[in-house]
Amino acid sequence: MTSENDTAPEYLATTAGRIADHRRKYQEAVGDRDAAAAAKQHPRGKMTARERIASLLDPGSFVEFDKYVKHRSTAFGMDANRPFGDAVVTGAGTIHGRQVVVYSQDFTTFGGSLGEAAGEKIVKAMDFAMKTGAPIIGMLDSGGARIQEGVFSLSQYARIFKRNTLSSGVIPQISIVMGPSAGGAVYSPALTDFVIMVDKTSNMFVTGPDVIKTVTGEEVGFEELGGALTHNKTSGVSHYLASDELDALDYARTLISFLPDNNLAEAPIYDSDTAFEITEADRRLNTIIPDSQNQPYDMKVVIEAILDGGDFLEVQPLFAPNILIGFGRVEGRTVGIVANQPNQMAGTLNIDASEKAARFVRFCDAFSIPILTLVDVPGYLPGTEQEYQGVIRRGAKLLFAYAEATVPLVTIITRKAYGGAYIVMGSKEMGADFNIAWPTAEIAVMGGAGAVNILYRKELAAAEAAGQDVEALRAELTAKYTADVTSPFLAAERGEIDNVLEPAGTRLAVIKALRGLRGKRDELPAKKHGNIPL
Ligand code: HXC
Repeated sequence: MTSENDTAPEYLATTAGRIADHRRKYQEAVGDRDAAAAAKQHPRGKMTARERIASLLDPGSFVEFDKYVKHRSTAFGMDANRPFGDAVVTGAGTIHGRQVVVYSQDFTTFGGSLGEAAGEKIVKAMDFAMKTGAPIIGMLDSGGARIQEGVFSLSQYARIFKRNTLSSGVIPQISIVMGPSAGGAVYSPALTDFVIMVDKTSNMFVTGPDVIKTVTGEEVGFEELGGALTHNKTSGVSHYLASDELDALDYARTLISFLPDNNLAEAPIYDSDTAFEITEADRRLNTIIPDSQNQPYDMKVVIEAILDGGDFLEVQPLFAPNILIGFGRVEGRTVGIVANQPNQMAGTLNIDASEKAARFVRFCDAFSIPILTLVDVPGYLPGTEQEYQGVIRRGAKLLFAYAEATVPLVTIITRKAYGGAYIVMGSKEMGADFNIAWPTAEIAVMGGAGAVNILYRKELAAAEAAGQDVEALRAELTAKYTADVTSPFLAAERGEIDNVLEPAGTRLAVIKALRGLRGKRDELPAKKHGNIPL
């Protein structure tokens, strides 16, 4: 190998010599580096940075940027080791024929850490994504800021965070965490739209187990502290728990298929074999609502009955499962779904569900994706725990998100729609365009049992004092309240509901509503930005 300080060697005097030199350097930068990386990564059940890119993108589509970049640090003897490309591979390619920009950190080079050169490469890729209006996908596998490079490393993170923020709502940003993501570095994925983590081989934490033990005395392992399961189920940082790296990359490819390239583009339209008459599958919805009000059912069945091919790409399935969010298609066009899930905590709204759905509504709105809201919600989850954690402030996010959304909004009330939860879940006056209720819908300030206890407190007490059958009276009053007050036809009389519809007709009604709304244009008052409760 030639050192940079050598005087020009003789073989560079000819074209053939220069081409041979290029081949050597290319082999060193790509082939040799990847072979060495594979030897370290594969025994850990991990792919190399380049293998990940190759699996994510359409075959042969990758165009690499900056493969000959080298770091310039001289600290701690770093100048003795200046590998081509530094610790990240960057470039552009296609997924399903559409351009995306990628970066993939190489843990086998300085622990994938981010120094000045690696940071500059990522920043260049991010700028390219914004310039060309293409989604960016980061594959993270890094020990964080490169310790040897000090502030030069930290300022690169600042440049990345700034770009993550300015790109938000302009291009879709996806992070796939495939190894460690430690310290302040976690805030880059946190600022992106979707975080995918690989089970058992990825972790994210602001302070690691050693620091936690020193400062608080608490003992916790990497996996429990910041593993993929923790962040998918408990913290809500991650949106998908991938079983392995290929699963993670596959989820990202599928996700991209639902998204537009940028906020000025439309999501891709796929062929569909939509049936335009009521099908057997549609009719099955007529029996999904149990006769008993308190019996749960699976809202996913309703979602799948509405979407093309029953294909629902759920997002954040393990976090706040009392609300469902995700993507599907209607007549080949992307829709975002927000739905209460009655078989989890009776579909109540709590802080986690509100925040999960609010961020999703804002994503869909930013990228012109119509939102279909399915409502079966008895209300907000009561209790001191929720109040002390700030359900007022944090639950307000979902109201803010719906109220601000200007994309087509179609809402279907399948059963309960009580109180504030009715209002927040895409009600008419919050800005929904088409509000449909099934005959089983119950729209009211509160459910029958609670209302009767308040409205008829004296009558119930008198009946009890007189030795009458209080429960029979309560049941009678509840039935009367339900019929008189909660009927969807009362809401329809006032135009709060546009139509009361047999469940079997839902899919066709959604198709027509979304068709009718394709030309929707709505504008918010001019302002710098709103101040969403955080
Ligand atoms: C330089 C690093 C590095 C780093 C790892 N390496 N992290 N080099 N800067 N931040 C190097 C190691 O020295 C080692 O080099 C190689 O990468 C592999 O690391 P190992 O420790 O052997 O690997 P492993 O046992 O798998 O542990 C991985 C790890 C651990 C958990 C990530 O390396 C670690 O704790 N690193 C430090 C994490 C951290 O605290 N980073 C700073 C966070 S603060 P050799 O030569 O031996 O192979 C931050 C601020 C961001 O990022 C700023 C935003 C505001």
